[in-house]
Amino acid sequence: MSGKPTVSKDFIWSLPKAELHLHLEGTLEPEMMMALAKRNHVTISYPDVDAIRKAYVFTDLQSFLDVYYAGCSVLVTERDFYELTAAYLERAVSQGVRHVEVFFDPQSHTARGIPFETVISGIHRALIDYETTHGVTSRLILSFLRHLSESDAIATLKAAEPFLAWIAAVGLDSSEVGNPPSKFAKVYEQARNLGLLAVAHAGEEGPPEYIWEALDMLQASRIDHGVRCLEDERLVDRLATESVPLTVCPLSNVKLHVFPSLAESNLPALLERDLRVTINSDDPAYFGGYVADNLLAVAQAFSLSCEQIVGLVRNSFLSSFLSDAEKAKHLADIDRIAQNAKECS
Ligand code: ADE
Ligand code: ZN
Repeated sequence: MSGKPTVSKDFIWSLPKAELHLHLEGTLEPEMMMALAKRNHVTISYPDVDAIRKAYVFTDLQSFLDVYYAGCSVLVTERDFYELTAAYLERAVSQGVRHVEVFFDPQSHTARGIPFETVISGIHRALIDYETTHGVTSRLILSFLRHLSESDAIATLKAAEPFLAWIAAVGLDSSEVGNPPSKFAKVYEQARNLGLLAVAHAGEEGPPEYIWEALDMLQASRIDHGVRCLEDERLVDRLATESVPLTVCPLSNVKLHVFPSLAESNLPALLERDLRVTINSDDPAYFGGYVADNLLAVAQAFSLSCEQIVGLVRNSFLSSFLSDAEKAKHLADIDRIAQNAKECS
C-alpha cells in the first residue's frame, strides 16, 4: 500500500474540505515572523528567514513547542492577530477549504501581557471578513495549555466570558505526557456549563488512557490526533461504535517523530478499523504543508483510492460543528465533484 498516486493533485485541491485541527499560532510563516519582529521591535534569535526555516528540525513534541512559543512572541497587536488569521485563511481557501475550526492559545499571549481581548478581536475580525469575502465559515476553539495549572485555565475561561458568542469550544494542547486530561476536569465542566463544546489533544505522544480520560472526564466530542488508540482494542471499539472523530495530522506526526516516516504511520490501520479519521495540518508553517498537502502526501504514501480520499473529506464535514443542513450541502458538493472526476470512474 504505497508509492503510486491514484488521484491527481488537482482532484485533491478541487474537493471541498473542512480543517478541524489547526493552531493559528502554528500558521506563522517565517516571512511574517521576521516582518512582525521588525514592526513590533521584538528580538528573535534568528538573523533571517533562512535561519528560521533551518531551525525547524524537531526531535519530539517538546522540542517543537519550545520553538513555537518563542515564535509567538512577535504577535503583539490586534492587527498582528488579524493578519496572521487572514494569511492562513487565504492559503486555506486556495487549497479548497470551505470551513475551519481553529485553535488559539490565549495563555501564550496573556502571559506576555497581551490582553485576551486584543488576541480574540483580531482573530474574530479576520474570520468574519473571510466569511463575507470568500464564503469560508468558521468556529473558534479556545485551547488551554496543559503544561500550566488548571487554575490558570480557569482564569483564562473567566477572561473569555465576555467573548463567548465568538467561541464554539474549548480544547487542550501543549506538552501531553505528564499532563493528563483529568488535570482539567473542573475547567472543562465549567466550560460545558457555559454552553461550550469540548475537544482535546490525546494520544499524540500520550497513552491510550489519556484518550479514555478525554472522553469520560472531559466529555470531548472529538479527539485531536488520537493515533495511539490502536494500542487498546477496547478503546478502538468504543471510538468506532460511537463514531468519535480523530483529527489526524500526518505531516505533523512525522516532523515530531510520532512515526519514523509517513509510510510507517498507522493511517491505513485506522481506516481499516472504520474509525472516523479526518486529515489536518496542525501547525502548517512548521510542518511543511497545509491541509491539501497533507491529503496529497497520504494519497501518495498509501496509494489511496478516490473513495478513500472522498471518505476523508466527507469525514471532515461530518465531524465538524456545522449544522446538519450545512453538512448536507458540503457533502452534496463533494459527491458531485467526485462523480465528475476521471479518477473516480
Ligand atoms: N500546540 C501546537 N501544536 C501542538 C501539537 N501538535 N500538540 C500539542 N500541542 C500543540
Ligand atoms: Zn495540535
